[in-house]
Amino acid sequence: MVKPREQWGSRAGFIMAAAGSAVGLGNIWKYPHMAGQHGGGAFTVVYLICILFVGLPILMAEISIGRRTQLNPVGAFKALSNNSSWKFVGLLGVASAFTILSFYSVVGGWTLKYTMLALTGAFNDFAVGDSAAQAFNAFVTNPISPVLWHLVFMGLCVLIINQGVKAGIERWSKILMPVLLGILLLLVVRGVTLEGAGEGLRFLFWPKWGDLDASAVVLALGHSFFTISLGMGTMITYGSYLSRDSDLLQSALWIIFIDTAIALLAGVAIFTAVFALGQNPAEGPGLIFVVLPSLFPQMPGGAIFAVMFFGLLFVAALTSAISILEVVTAYFIDEKGWSRSKATYTFGGVIAFIGVLASLSNGSFNLLAPFTELTFMDLLDKVSSKYMLPLGGMLTAFFVLLRWGIVRFTEEIKAGARWFEVNRWTVTTIFTIAGTVVAYIFVRELIALFG
Ligand code: PFF
Repeated sequence: MVKPREQWGSRAGFIMAAAGSAVGLGNIWKYPHMAGQHGGGAFTVVYLICILFVGLPILMAEISIGRRTQLNPVGAFKALSNNSSWKFVGLLGVASAFTILSFYSVVGGWTLKYTMLALTGAFNDFAVGDSAAQAFNAFVTNPISPVLWHLVFMGLCVLIINQGVKAGIERWSKILMPVLLGILLLLVVRGVTLEGAGEGLRFLFWPKWGDLDASAVVLALGHSFFTISLGMGTMITYGSYLSRDSDLLQSALWIIFIDTAIALLAGVAIFTAVFALGQNPAEGPGLIFVVLPSLFPQMPGGAIFAVMFFGLLFVAALTSAISILEVVTAYFIDEKGWSRSKATYTFGGVIAFIGVLASLSNGSFNLLAPFTELTFMDLLDKVSSKYMLPLGGMLTAFFVLLRWGIVRFTEEIKAGARWFEVNRWTVTTIFTIAGTVVAYIFVRELIALFG
């Protein structure tokens, strides 16, 4: 007998799990350094516009496709399009999941290592000169240590996903998300009470339009997909465990609100400290792993806040990583009839292996060295965030417009909606704009790539 599909235990459970997927390295690691390098408040404004006008509609589309079909992304597109080639959008999603998790879990491993360094007081040696940068470099290029931490991180993902939707994903998200928020609030209070913190706030929120070029706008759009986990079927998969009486718009708004609030709070916690202690805010990706470890020893209570910060980063990464693994697992369970544990262990293993290659590529074993300056790990990041997710998101918007149809889509979002009326023409306009904007940017990126 086929087991009935698992469902979320409650609406709050779904929101916690989906927000757990959305809130991740993208919010705490990527957003602050992108804003730092591309116009502070100006970048933030563009990012918020992208989230509202492109992210929200596509998030609604994904959740409703999942809830309607109660299937994984491939099965869902197949079911709603009469098994036509739209199913390749679902397959693209599964491929993106492999690509993203392979590098994401390497950085997840770094967060674990840095939590350990913070716990053992190792940051005390990082306060002088460029010792923090040297230590970070030595760590990521090492052939063993980052590989082992990555494997530990992937192992944790596999254990949680193997427990299933309710006992694994939902239970852990409900524990970890409040922990994350609590730690972040403490860090924000620490940051804003440092002397000179105001400069950091001004930097993050005051728009410097001159620093915002076209490529920063593209970056903001791509990032709005990454940060809400769109374009690869994660939200289709999570939506497929929802029942018909759930209010989709309300849930989507909660997810977006939590995700955005956490990115902004993380920015506040980081830039107040960076400015109060006179560091360079435009440091780039090293901001978190190089600048912050050298700052903690200089601030009162720094040892404790360091443990909290990297613990926070680890929790955020873990709740996102499990959602990516669930896309692959759900696909093999639904479409290939595999058991949950067979799917989880097999593909957890495959992804862990690709991740090992990604980690090694930061050191002397870079498969791509003969062809490009990018490391294999950079390539996985670039290809997925710049091309695969926007492509998946764009095709999802066009799928709703051209194949599934606005009428059926609005019927689906009306089911369970308690407090709003949907107007078909408004929805059509929003989807046309969202799809076209993403298509424009995607084509521009392709031309830039080959041009
Ligand atoms: N949203 C996650 C973050 O901001 O770190 C990353 C992510 C998770 C991307 C799940 C895509 C995904 F499907």
